[in-house]
Amino acid sequence: MNKKEKELIDRLEREQSLTEEEYAELIRNRDEEAAASLAKIAVKKRKEFFSDAVYTRGLIEISSICKNNCLYCGIRRDNRNAERYRLTKEEILACADEGYELGFRTFVLQGGEDPYFTDEVLCEIVAGLKEKHPDCAVTLSMGERSSHSYRALYDAGADRYLLRHETADVGHYAKLHPGEMSFDNRMRCLHDLKEIGYQIGCGFMVGSPFQTPETLAKDLKFVETFRPAMCGIGPFIPHHDTPFKDEKAGTLELTLFLLSVIRLILPEVLLPATTALGTIDPKGREKGILAGANVVMPNLSPVGVRKKYELYDNKICTGEESAQCRGCLEARMQSVGYRLVVDRGDAPGYTIHQKI
Ligand code: 5AD
Ligand code: FES
Repeated sequence: MNKKEKELIDRLEREQSLTEEEYAELIRNRDEEAAASLAKIAVKKRKEFFSDAVYTRGLIEISSICKNNCLYCGIRRDNRNAERYRLTKEEILACADEGYELGFRTFVLQGGEDPYFTDEVLCEIVAGLKEKHPDCAVTLSMGERSSHSYRALYDAGADRYLLRHETADVGHYAKLHPGEMSFDNRMRCLHDLKEIGYQIGCGFMVGSPFQTPETLAKDLKFVETFRPAMCGIGPFIPHHDTPFKDEKAGTLELTLFLLSVIRLILPEVLLPATTALGTIDPKGREKGILAGANVVMPNLSPVGVRKKYELYDNKICTGEESAQCRGCLEARMQSVGYRLVVDRGDAPGYTIHQKI
């Protein structure tokens, strides 16, 4: 670690922001020593706010049908080999019931942009979940929708929305997505969600094709200024039926480094150790926690559909029952000195507002 690198890390530790160019420099010049120093500070900050608690979110993958064609994604429209399914309201509620028994107090409904899930259909599901489990948070991760739609879902009871920005560089965005998708609309969605009052998760893949230290610096600046409640980052992993099938996967090392940096930029942020991180390394999620992450999102989807929600190759936990994943993660977290908690896991400072 050179003198400049040390100075940048010291400034992050003192909660001073860096310029975009400095973020790029921090990434370009990183080495093992810098990563270890950042992780140490990140864990210290994380413990100030969250002690040894790891929050859980039960992920229910409600549809593998998608009208979009993102170049990196295994369930893209043009992938004729993808097996498509969608869950019924009853199936979704059953997953949540099982999750509740296992100790989950947040349910994340995630799916492709499936036109079947109109506002009417989705609002009914959200309202049904809140009625059965009023002490739980409902998070949606259903892609780009209109402001009107986000409002209706919020009024139906949704508390949070995950929409990764994917990249904060407009040129890079265009290389990851087909022409019919736009960076501006992605940003419009994120700003609409914020204005409505959702707790928001943005995020990006690490090591996606065409990513550079400069585009990553933009991601960090975006995270710093947008101040999401949560930031989901995980390595890009190629899927064999996509245009990016021959691209290299993102690395464990860079993902861990960025987790630590994000923890220092926003000390109170919710930072998941993602399934993708667990996929590229058998101890990826544990290592993520030790780099500053504080959330895990195990799968609650019915076992019969898990393999069909294949965003990338070799995704873990596709053969396991929900209870097995909960137990497995509990043991994994304990092995590194942390514990899973039964809690909604709201972002600190967020007051649960009553909705009528
Ligand atoms: N590798 C890693 N992450 C991926 N995602 C989609 N495809 C891949 C892939 N091949 C991520 C995207 C999306 C989230 C649901 O999954 O960032 O927002
Ligand atoms: Fe699913 Fe370990 S978390 S098997």
